[in-house]
Amino acid sequence: MITIALPKGRLMEESIEILKNSGIEVETPTSRRLFFFDKGNRYRFLIVRAQDVATYVEHNAADLGIVGKDVLNESKPDVFELLDLGIGYCRMVVAGRDNECLHKKNSSVRVATKFVNIAKEHFLKKGINAEIIKLYGSIELAPILGIADCIVDIVSTGKTLKENGLSIIEEIFESTAILVSNRISYYTKNPKIREFLEHIR
Ligand code: PRP
Repeated sequence: MITIALPKGRLMEESIEILKNSGIEVETPTSRRLFFFDKGNRYRFLIVRAQDVATYVEHNAADLGIVGKDVLNESKPDVFELLDLGIGYCRMVVAGRDNECLHKKNSSVRVATKFVNIAKEHFLKKGINAEIIKLYGSIELAPILGIADCIVDIVSTGKTLKENGLSIIEEIFESTAILVSNRISYYTKNPKIREFLEHIR
């Protein structure tokens, strides 16, 4: 049997859809149970926080996992990237009230974000001095309240930015969900992983 970590939240529904369309019979998880099996008992699925999927895979608690490129770019886990699933499309962007927010004289730009490493790397590449302010959610509030000049965050529909009076200043990269594999499992369970890949491809 192989174990596959699935992300809670925005990617869960689309991930289940992919499994169902591939002929892997699973029930849509509804209870608080954090793992379930397919009807053929070939796969065990774990339901974990999106940010934790790659950690479970890296530490061999799961053989495979579905994880957004945004999370992979932030935490750079030691896993194999097997397949771009094309689901969960979103963009990593710099957003603010206007373009001026990046042009500060004599002080660094204050950037609020959940994606500290991505933000640091982005501003370093641009040669802009940035002070990164780590938040865990509702990032869009930071420029409104004046604790940051701009944010680095994911945008999907664009609704949250719009409703909070912010707009995209720069796109950093596009993100979709990737099927990742534990490095050891990829070799020791290769036939089973290949079979799973054949199903969902
Ligand atoms: C994400 C992201 C934005 C929002 C973008 O937050 O941080 O706030 O979704 O989506 P939209 O472009 O479709 O409006 P999430 O919903 O994960 O909640 P959070 O703010 O608590 O992290």
